[in-house]
Amino acid sequence: MCGIVGYIGKKTACPILINGLTALEYRGYDSAGIASIENKKICVMKDKGRVSNLNNIEGIDNLRGTIGIAHTRWATHGKPSKENSHPHMDNSETFAVVHNGIIENYTELRKFLSDNGYKFLSQTDTEVIPNLIHYYFTKDTSSDENKFLKSVKQATTDLKGSFAIEVLSNLYPDKMITVRKDSPLVIGKGSTGYHIASDIPALLEYTRDFYLLDDYEFAVMENDSIKFYNSDLIEHNKEIKNIEWAASAAEKNGYEDYMLKEIFEQPTAIRETIGSRLKLGEKCDFSDLDISKEYLSSINKIFIVACGTAMHAGLTGKKFLENLCNIPVEVDIASEFRYRNPIINEKTLCIFISQSGETADTIAALKLSKSKGAKTLAVSNVIGSSITREADYTIYTHAGPEIAVASTKAYTSQIVLLGILSVYFAEILESSDSKVLENLKKDILELPKKIEASLNTKNEVKNFAQKVFDEKDVFFIGRGSDYNVALEGSLKLKEISYIHSEAYASGELKHGPIALIENGITVISILTDETLVEKSISNIQEVITRGAKTFIVTNQNILNSNFDAIVKIEETNPLLSPILSVIPLQLLAYYITKEKGLDVDKPRNLAKSVTVE
Ligand code: AGP
Repeated sequence: MCGIVGYIGKKTACPILINGLTALEYRGYDSAGIASIENKKICVMKDKGRVSNLNNIEGIDNLRGTIGIAHTRWATHGKPSKENSHPHMDNSETFAVVHNGIIENYTELRKFLSDNGYKFLSQTDTEVIPNLIHYYFTKDTSSDENKFLKSVKQATTDLKGSFAIEVLSNLYPDKMITVRKDSPLVIGKGSTGYHIASDIPALLEYTRDFYLLDDYEFAVMENDSIKFYNSDLIEHNKEIKNIEWAASAAEKNGYEDYMLKEIFEQPTAIRETIGSRLKLGEKCDFSDLDISKEYLSSINKIFIVACGTAMHAGLTGKKFLENLCNIPVEVDIASEFRYRNPIINEKTLCIFISQSGETADTIAALKLSKSKGAKTLAVSNVIGSSITREADYTIYTHAGPEIAVASTKAYTSQIVLLGILSVYFAEILESSDSKVLENLKKDILELPKKIEASLNTKNEVKNFAQKVFDEKDVFFIGRGSDYNVALEGSLKLKEISYIHSEAYASGELKHGPIALIENGITVISILTDETLVEKSISNIQEVITRGAKTFIVTNQNILNSNFDAIVKIEETNPLLSPILSVIPLQLLAYYITKEKGLDVDKPRNLAKSVTVE
């Protein structure tokens, strides 16, 4: 939530900052602003609305400073408005700050500062930060050369909650300070200077060499130097990491939208995620995951914890682990798990799935599990993300950067990775027949080709989308794995098309929801489990009888002409079917949204990475 960008170097900062904000706009897009230093004066330009609005601000083209900070906002405290947009300054306009996160004790800090004569111009939690920095700066009467850094440090010590901040001061026109706690921040070393951003894809155009800041680690950039300090302000060296993503991976590459591009990237994303981990006739290779047989044998319970789409991937992960490893698995929503006092001990393995690796609830749930003695395993798509730094073990999907707010290729890659992990565990535990595992491996390796067939349903899906795009309510139904996919299909549709949709296990319809089925209501069914097909078809007939329009995604040969549309996908191992059956549903959400003329990549009220509770 919220994106921050910064630049200090040899070039004019403003265009670089606006470019960075545009790349980061999926993190929040209700207001935007930049601050740069010119002639020892901080110039702030900001307004509500999208990043592109910044170009309409008079004088923005004349900003020539080579140092600057910028922000695209997802409003938490205070409505989207010019006053609430970042950057925020202290009363004396000596310090400017952009912030991503939430300051939980801002009311208390505001009172403290008000009692000390400070005035507030916005409703934001952020505005306390520059004023606190000013408060500590003026209290320090020394001429210590580190006074700026010390004041930032003192101010951040007072903050409760999460933050990634960048600070500028007109007293130090060549210096920028950044620090983070529980909110993402990376620093890229480019050819003309240092680039700061909330995440890596926004900077791939400039560099692939990154410093990944730790909590309470301060970076001080001045001209062409960078220094790192720990929370006691002791200077240390920091390793630079080379990130392999290609610069073009964060571009649309000819597609109209990122979401469509990412849907069509799924064969590649799956191939990359399989990588060299899985080969026929060989044991799975997770040599990077130092898990012993002794430890695995001691596990009597697994939790899979995540949010949204990642949680839906976890539902399929549960099926893999229970089927192949015979260990009971519970899947939970991170925001529930963290407050419900789950029963966890050293015999529990807790798996956390997060595309971004920055989701606040998922990280908090991980920390809780660790504190209760469980081992933690992170599944993430972003190298060095917060979750991977907290977890005992990490495995990566290799889906490439996912930019669209609606997650697509990350979901299917997460399922594949959980599948391979389950095979690996089963091989160590000898909990499944080796032939069963070998056949499953073969099926996993065939997935990229079979996904192509799911993608080829796009014209049929588009035709159906044109018929139903102005619906108000849509239902998704399925049994077993198909129900898990129904949940994901429903989430996809509602988040981008704003159509109200619900997912139900088909067998639950008669226990209430069928009361809502009437003439013209659309019911989308997923039918891939041959052992349950007949039962599911009976459920579909019941909704047809009540006037529903039906759209079926299936791998079965269904001889029935009273469905409105049947989309055929390839057969595979039932454990893997969600990877193939979700694709027509991703396409359906996409085409319905396009038909409605909405912004597919940046749906209202949402942000790609939910870094606050
Ligand atoms: C997916 O389409 C959503 N936008 C959302 O549910 C997302 O999956 C969720 O916020 C979790 O994100 P993460 O994987 O980055 O933790």
